[in-house]
Order: sequence, then C-alpha cells, then structure tokens
Amino acid sequence: MTRARIIGVGAYAPKRILTNADLEKLVDTNDEWIQQRSGIRERRIADETEATSDLALKAAAQALERANLVPEDIEFIAVGTTTPDMFFPTVGNIVQHRLGCGRAGSVDLLAACAGSIYSLAFGSQLIQTGKYRRVLCIGAETLSRIIDWTDRGTCVLLADAAGAAVLEAEEGDRGILDFDLYSDGQYWDLLYMPGGGSRHPATRETVDARMHYAKMKGSEVFKVAVRMFVECAERILTRNGFTVDDVKLFIPHQANLRIIEAAAKRVRLPMERVFVNVDRYGNTGAASLYVALEEAVVGGRVQRGDLILLAAFGGGFAWGAALLRW
Ligand code: UT7
Repeated sequence: MTRARIIGVGAYAPKRILTNADLEKLVDTNDEWIQQRSGIRERRIADETEATSDLALKAAAQALERANLVPEDIEFIAVGTTTPDMFFPTVGNIVQHRLGCGRAGSVDLLAACAGSIYSLAFGSQLIQTGKYRRVLCIGAETLSRIIDWTDRGTCVLLADAAGAAVLEAEEGDRGILDFDLYSDGQYWDLLYMPGGGSRHPATRETVDARMHYAKMKGSEVFKVAVRMFVECAERILTRNGFTVDDVKLFIPHQANLRIIEAAAKRVRLPMERVFVNVDRYGNTGAASLYVALEEAVVGGRVQRGDLILLAAFGGGFAWGAALLRW
C-alpha cells in the first residue's frame, strides 16, 4: 500500500524571546498566573521584518535538507496558516517561488490551529492518490500580528513559529496510517477575528473597535478542546485496532499544558509518553504540531517503528488526529 512517510522535519522560531516577566510590563498579569493556568514560561515573537512566509521558508529549507532533497523535487506545498503575509497570494505560493520549487502546486489551508493536522492530512492524501510523490507540508504563523496586546486573556498565550515536514510516497507499513478531520461551526464565536474579511472589511471604525485582533472565550475553548482531543484520539486508535498502550508518543497541539494534561489523563496516557514544549513557545497555532514533531524527532523521542499519535484543535472549531508509524 502506498503511504506518505515523513522523511524530513524542520522548524524555525524567531530569535526574540518574550518572557512572562516582559508581559507583566504590558498587561495586568504575572508569571505565576501564566505558568499555573497555561504552563507557558516564554514565547517567540517575530521582528518587524519577519512575515509568516519568512518563518515558513526557514523551516521548509531545513526539512528539505534533512530529507536530502532539493527544492525541485517538491511537487506540491500545503501550508496551514491563519496569518498569511497578505490575503493573497498564499504563503504556499511565496514559499514555492522563494525556495525554488519549480512549478509545484501550492495552497494555504485555513483551519486555525488545526491547520497543522489539516495540511498534513491534505499532503498525505495527495500522495495516496498516486498523483504526487513528494509534498512539502508547513505550519506557519505570526499570531503576534493579530494579538491585542491590551487583552491579557490572549496575549499571554499566542506566539510565532513555523514547522515543516517533507512527505514522500513509500510502499510498506511505515508512514501516515490514518487521519481524521472534523469541524463544528456552532463554536465559531469562541475564537475568531471579526475584522478584515468580507463581513467587516477594514475601515477606520473596525480598527477603532479593535476588530482586527483575535477574540477568545478562553474557558469555553478549554472545555470543548479537551472533549475533542479525547474523542478524536480514541476514535482513530479504535478504528485502526490500537489502544493507548500501543502509542509510543502522543504529540498534541501545544495550546495549554492543562488542556494537554486533562486530555492525556482521560485517554489514560501517562505524561512520559506525551510531548510538551508549550512552556518555551506558547501557542503557535498551525505551526505548533510541526514544531513539536521536529523537536521530538531531533531529541530522539521518536524511533523507527514507533506508533505516534498527533492531534490538534483550533478556532472554528476545527480539529483532527493522525496516526503515524515512524
Ligand atoms: O488553539 C486554541 C487556542 N486557545 C486555547 O487553547 C485557550 C484555551 N483556554 C485556556 O487556555 C484557558 O482558559 C486560559 C489560560 C485562557 C484561562 O485560564 P482559566 O483557568 O480558564 O481562567 P479564566 O478565564 O476562568 O480566568 C480566571 C481569572 C479571571 O479573573 P476572575 O474573573 O476570576 O477575577 C480572569 O480575569 O483569571 C483572570 N485572568 C488573568 N489573570 C492574570 C485572565 N487572564 C489573566 C492573565 N493574568 N493573563
């Protein structure tokens, strides 16, 4: 059976570190609250010269190099992002040109933080059809550009980064075994950005009303997120004839340590088998799963033959899971 296997991973986080102590100077918050409620200690913020495609490009170049491929080998680029450089063209298009990927097709997938799992599943499916052999999947965000720095409910959580994975067609048992993607628009107003689209195009009034920033009902997002994590993880394992005992490593979207711990507890996965780096990066949206995967691989937490469970959720709501045999 032809499967998409990840043959190279890459990640990039901007150099500038914003600590909880730095945030104490911006809003009424403190290091203890942020660490206790979210597990975040610090995060990376892009400088004024860096847009999402700049971050994506660096992560993609590293993933390609590690895959021992040249840009011309890539036939398609799938990017998960909520914060493209501009409305259009897409980040995928910009990366295709600047990286030099011939005339590879490209697309951006907007599924908020679930853009990671959506882009990976999309790339996997392109390969499984037999049409493409090498697909570059990317998750990249500069969420700092849609943070309201006066809103302590969001500005302590969101941050910037990019991650990438090169998929290649392979016959055999390794690679992406399965994935599930879900959405439920009834939750749209738990996490959204009202301004700038066709409903509220940018005007002086929308800017004055701070409509170009992410709005979030944090505690409600929290509850739905845990439920969705658990449901999609259990469903994909059961359907493929596995139990949590078979999972060597669970790599979840890094939104909040408490969400990750609550989900792991409910599916009965000990935290030793759960990958966490939210403490150092905060919530980097569609990038987070790729950045976590890269760190897990480079850190030796993922070995050949391991069963890896990935899951992500985001505004919309959109969520999903993937099972990989490494
Ligand atoms: O990719 C998806 C993205 N979003 C998420 O994953 C967010 C999910 N939700 C969360 O992570 C959590 O709900 C938060 C970290 C946002 C908040 O934690 P919480 O335990 O749900 O706190 P809360 O919203 O119930 O707020 C508790 C208190 C409130 O004060 P009162 O009303 O009890 O006096 C807040 O005003 O904490 C206050 N608060 C803060 N205090 C200090 C809210 N934000 C802050 C802050 N610093 N930054």
